[in-house]
Amino acid sequence: MTRPLPIVILVSGRGSNMQAIVEAARAGNLPVEVRAVISNRADAPGLAWARRAGIDVAALDPADYPDREAYDRAMMGLIDRFEPALVVLAGYMRILSPAFVHHYAGRLLNIHPSLLPDFRGLDTHRRALEAGRAEHGASVHFVTEELDGGPVIAQVRVPVEAGDDEQTLAARVLEQEHRLYPEVLRWFAAGRLGWRDGQALLDGEPLDQPVDLGRG
Ligand code: GAR
Repeated sequence: MTRPLPIVILVSGRGSNMQAIVEAARAGNLPVEVRAVISNRADAPGLAWARRAGIDVAALDPADYPDREAYDRAMMGLIDRFEPALVVLAGYMRILSPAFVHHYAGRLLNIHPSLLPDFRGLDTHRRALEAGRAEHGASVHFVTEELDGGPVIAQVRVPVEAGDDEQTLAARVLEQEHRLYPEVLRWFAAGRLGWRDGQALLDGEPLDQPVDLGRG
């Protein structure tokens, strides 16, 4: 058997996407080794869950650093001690410095709760409702300097239902996020997903549009 892909996961909060990845790996459905879960918040519930699950955890408090660059440098040093082949952002709610993004170019993924390029940034569910969208979803993309603007690899879609509020819509999307992220990680672990000149490659071919993993 080939060696599982070593990854480090960054979380800021609940960490349900991180849990979905850990659980898929433990169930034998995803060949990754979660070497560490790291947070910008020592009190992140996701960090507590990972600790209980026996995973190495660490937190770095941004207040201990003079600026974003210094913080990200410390974060890179910490992450690199675990020698990950891939860094997985799972609800990591910080803007990244260009140095951080360049250091991990082609091996840094993020999940975002919208059908990118729609609704970059925050409050995606509220904005999808306000825009009267019939469909909403989530995207996994390579991270570049442009916030939520890197090449999108794959997406899942959900219907917006009559009577939805932010919470019901977010829950419907989140359930599908838990299907989306492990699937993209499977491709990366299998060596199917690549990066060349700022473009995502799947099976050696540039991905002109995201893979549609369907409607949940
Ligand atoms: C997820 O919905 C994720 O897509 C979103 O935060 C949530 C984290 O949930 N990420 C972003 O908004 C990034 N800009 P989780 O902590 O339970 O995985």
